[in-house]
Amino acid sequence: MNWETVKLDANENFFIPRVFLSSLVKEVADEVDLRLYPSDRLYTLLIREISSFLNVPSESIIIGNGSDDLIALLVKTLARRGIIITNPTFRIYKWAAKVFNVKIYESILATSFDINVNDVLRFNDAADLCFVCSPNNPTGNQFRIDDLEKLIGEFNGIVVIDEAYVDFADYSAINLLGKYDNLIIARTFSKGFGLASFRLGFLVTSYELADKLRFSIPPFNVNTVSVLMGVKMIRNKSIVEEAIKKLKIERERLINALSIINGIKPFNSKTNFILFKTEMNANYIYNYLYRNKVFVRRFDEPPLNKHYLRVTVGTPDMNDIFIDVLKRAISHENI
Ligand SMILES: Cc1ncc(COP(=O)(O)O)c(C=O)c1O
Repeated sequence: MNWETVKLDANENFFIPRVFLSSLVKEVADEVDLRLYPSDRLYTLLIREISSFLNVPSESIIIGNGSDDLIALLVKTLARRGIIITNPTFRIYKWAAKVFNVKIYESILATSFDINVNDVLRFNDAADLCFVCSPNNPTGNQFRIDDLEKLIGEFNGIVVIDEAYVDFADYSAINLLGKYDNLIIARTFSKGFGLASFRLGFLVTSYELADKLRFSIPPFNVNTVSVLMGVKMIRNKSIVEEAIKKLKIERERLINALSIINGIKPFNSKTNFILFKTEMNANYIYNYLYRNKVFVRRFDEPPLNKHYLRVTVGTPDMNDIFIDVLKRAISHENI
């Protein structure tokens, strides 16, 4: 691995200490017989841990091999006619719909990146599954809870709220689960908990939907090490909370640093990344950063393809390098 690169393109969490994770993996390796298949008892242990952490019934939880995998499962199992997405958003929903040959209906976010619920509801009769990413990747904002509730209440099909970034945000829609049985909350251990390499995600929903989904999952779908890492991370949640606190402080510092660069406009963020608008061509800046081993995310579709980039909130050192190279990219073009 080349440690000289500054990898800020995939919203990984660099605030969870690396040594802490390796010490937990070593504990896991000593505690279990890695030659064996994962057991039901093991899955129950993680589900119970999530249940008490989030205060939701165990029967409503489905664990999976990362939330990407669970998103594919949702489309495969629940979408017959079509899915709705609110663009710009996380690209996996569209990918899954293409794989399973399901129609895609797109509602465009307002210029403030707010969701337009009435516009989404235009597709009420055409689609049976609606994906809402809140906080939204890549815009970074969290949709208003009353907008989400209106959508869940008025949509005839099932609404999936992807809360991958909720640990960095202000609230969760999980409390609406008791009120609506057409709601699915998707979560991951990849972001707040920093376990991206382990591929661990879960869904929380009504008993009826959970039963239906459980039926479609093969046995042993999540590996033993990941399950136990999930358990240990929840048991060590104070370390996670501390890391998130530091990340949020750094997020504000990075937004401020970006906002004082001429020709750059960062957007507020409730996530561990920041979307920013560039007066210059975004591809030029992306390539300049790339040549200097700073990786950020660019977009290949309108409306973000020409003048927007997304950067992960890295450690202060990583962000300093990013800001420095970004400034150089901008001054070079001006010469
Ligand atoms: C909104 C959103 N949902 C889900 C995921 C994927 O999570 P996982 O690593 O659990 O597959 C990501 C990853 O970037 C994401 O941005």
